[in-house]
Amino acid sequence: LGQGPLSGRRVLVTSGPTHEPIDPVRYIANRSSGAQGAALAGALAELGAEVIFVTGPATVPPPAGVRVVAVESARDMEQAVGAALPVDAAVFAAAVADWRVSGAATRKIKKSREGLPTLELAENPDILAGVAQMQTGRPRLVVGFAAETDDMVAHATAKRARKGCDWIVANDVSTETGIMGGTENAVTLITGEGAESWPRMTKTEVARRLAERIARALG
Ligand code: C5P
Repeated sequence: LGQGPLSGRRVLVTSGPTHEPIDPVRYIANRSSGAQGAALAGALAELGAEVIFVTGPATVPPPAGVRVVAVESARDMEQAVGAALPVDAAVFAAAVADWRVSGAATRKIKKSREGLPTLELAENPDILAGVAQMQTGRPRLVVGFAAETDDMVAHATAKRARKGCDWIVANDVSTETGIMGGTENAVTLITGEGAESWPRMTKTEVARRLAERIARALG
């Protein structure tokens, strides 16, 4: 394992979208590329951490030097996260689907003259909130991400309180920013001390700075 300020530390990173099956051949997904999560996992590994990288079907490949756990759905991700614990720090960069199709079909749904199929949705578990609110064995540092389009600081601050995590990394994903799927990010770090806006920089640079902050927080 690597040398560096995080050597001997176990860090969990979730990343990518999730795929929620409709039937064996169809699914509901979102546009997350997994770029920021992959960059962060790589930066943490470069600082010497043992990184467990729980990733949904991302378009960006996982970084070198991490333990990859590939999952599909939110419920798979929740299970993989549970299996990765205990960790010193957990960072939830995944764009987990809010809903899954309840009772996904086990066979391909056929077109029918009788009418259109109706998808009934069920709420997915909030993986971040579950870990942040653990009574025993909670990671010392729990970090969430918040993709916002307006009132970023207010919404992200409220989200930090609601989820019970230590930090929220908020990013402005309004379409004109080109952040979603792009190589740059402009984030605001929300901690117990307040909000810190970072200048726009590459996702790699955001990852490095965040990894350094995590190393400092773990001491
Ligand atoms: O509530 P919202 O989805 O905006 O919160 C975003 C944060 O919560 C991200 O850190 C994301 O990884 C995490 N999350 C999660 N499980 C969910 C939904 C969101 O871990 N079901």
